[in-house]
Amino acid sequence: MSYTIKTAEQYKQAYQHSIEDPEGFWAEVAGHFFWQKTWDKVLEWDFRKPELKWFIGAKLNITENCLDRHLATKGDQTAILFEPNDPAAPNRSYTYRQLYESVCKTANALKANGIQKGDRVCFYMPMVPELAIGVLACARIGAIHSVVFAGFSANSLADRIKDATCKMVICSDYNDRGAKHIIVKDVVDEALAMGCDSVKTVLVHRNTGGKINWREGRDKWWHEEVDHQSHACPAEPMDAEDMLFILYTSGSTGKPKGVVHTCGGYMVYTCYTFQNVFQYEDDDIYWCTADIGWVTGHSYIVYGPLLAGATTVMFEGVPTYPDASRFWQVCEKLRVTQFYTAPTAIRALMAHGDQYVEGFDLASIKVLGSVGEPINEEAWRWYYDKVGKGRAPIVDTWWQTETGGILISPLPGITPSRPCYATYPLPGIQPCLLDQEGREIEGNDVEGLLCIKFPWPSILRTTYGDHERCRQTYFAPFDNYYFTGDGARRDADGMYRIIGRVDDVINVSGHRLGTAEIENAINTHPQVVESAVVGYPHDIKGQGIYAYVITSAPVADDNTFRHELLDAVSKVIGPIAKPDKIQIVSGLPKTRSGKIMRRILRKVASGDTSSLGDVSTLLNPEVVDEIIDGALNE
Ligand code: PRX
Repeated sequence: MSYTIKTAEQYKQAYQHSIEDPEGFWAEVAGHFFWQKTWDKVLEWDFRKPELKWFIGAKLNITENCLDRHLATKGDQTAILFEPNDPAAPNRSYTYRQLYESVCKTANALKANGIQKGDRVCFYMPMVPELAIGVLACARIGAIHSVVFAGFSANSLADRIKDATCKMVICSDYNDRGAKHIIVKDVVDEALAMGCDSVKTVLVHRNTGGKINWREGRDKWWHEEVDHQSHACPAEPMDAEDMLFILYTSGSTGKPKGVVHTCGGYMVYTCYTFQNVFQYEDDDIYWCTADIGWVTGHSYIVYGPLLAGATTVMFEGVPTYPDASRFWQVCEKLRVTQFYTAPTAIRALMAHGDQYVEGFDLASIKVLGSVGEPINEEAWRWYYDKVGKGRAPIVDTWWQTETGGILISPLPGITPSRPCYATYPLPGIQPCLLDQEGREIEGNDVEGLLCIKFPWPSILRTTYGDHERCRQTYFAPFDNYYFTGDGARRDADGMYRIIGRVDDVINVSGHRLGTAEIENAINTHPQVVESAVVGYPHDIKGQGIYAYVITSAPVADDNTFRHELLDAVSKVIGPIAKPDKIQIVSGLPKTRSGKIMRRILRKVASGDTSSLGDVSTLLNPEVVDEIIDGALNE
């Protein structure tokens, strides 16, 4: 596409243009898409409400841009290349024409089952092509998809289904992931038994086959509903500001919130950033290893790549199955040109030893991407040297579920990369650093709270069903800014380095979790009086989960109790939220107003008790020594 930046000079010009005339800039980018009707106005915004509207009055359907418009030129090109969990199983692929037809058939099946524009459809599936097809089928008819990561528990799934009052759940029968065999449908059944009254239909994709429980009338097989449908389905005309999807994400308080993205701005921004950050060219094979259950999968497995007419790989497995060479074996086999993964995967593979990456022909790789958490220098170097063989630039892409697409990142081979730095903002992005009082910190070589001053097309519009919560979380902390929740440093060259969350959100293996959520899960155990969860530095996971727990009486069997707590967390949230360390304490350090001093707990958990500060003003200073003595540091 002609808007692709190819030189540092073009980046500077594009950035300058986007700041001086944002509306003109984005109108030009948006001109590269197919709109059923163009916009009357590019942007209306007010961060204080917040009200965020892009391409006002325009009509479009994102699937016409992902599929229909590529048919004439790329109908026979591979759109989705599926790499199954079992390395011996054959690859399955869909050309753009086949994908178009599958999406239309599925869209017709959704309609035949009563799904209409505006209805919410929940997905709980492994990484199989039908997940992408189902998501696009929703978009085709204007239904709103809410994909729930299939590692979440029945409880979490039920919460999300209820919050969005979904009319349908689409799931698989089973999921083979690594060496595990998971009965996906059972989790859905369990969730639906928790009062998900809005769900009328469960559409079950036969993935592995085998016997499953069945509720007549409610449960239907995907193949029986989809296969006989017509492969033509008109694309529903959508307003640019109609909802495209909801995606739940954790915050510092309460239950996860449903981040809402809309059709027009999300389309323009994900495609523009995909094209520029990965420098995708014809015949490239792009692979993002994320799961579609997270925003990375939405924006950079499904929408961004398909909008750009790319070949996108979908991987069902895990990096360490059958062994730690799986990623590299797939890169070699499929001749992957852009590879995008998370630091936690890099660190885990690095720990297995270089022998797993050496010996593979990775010469096809042109760009390496990192996402989801800060990448430490050692992992960055290993990725650069061992995977990229010193030839492929790394793009450390910083963004969030709420931002819809990448905001800060190098452009590979175009702007500089530096270990641990997301570097410079992409065109249209105006980052700044604030101090605790909300004053902007000017100049370079400074550190502060990362905020964004001006909207970009894929900024979240609201949190589903609770606009006030959206305002409170992102726009109220600092007047007239979008607050990211991250701390960052701007170095002498003006490059951004993301330090990490400054709120009570932790990032465990690239999974975003609220400490309050984990505490609530721990507190469901009848013997727990109170708990406090903090993150601590973890070599592989980035952050580990450290739980301090007060019990009502001394526990009889320590080991059993710990297992019960882990089970409770798995049940309420999912195995990803299980604490790595549990310390039983008699009290938690509190201020006189009763607030838990998490700063102290974080220090103790990280093994750094040198500078706890003055603890004498605490309500219960004596517990600090007890906590330090019992700390679970290696
Ligand atoms: O703390 C930042 C971290 O991940 C958070 C967003 O998490 P989530 O909404 O789950 O989206 C993850 C995938 C986009 C951010 O607030 N984060 C994300 N990317 C980076 C990062 N931290 C440092 N460097 C990154 N490249």
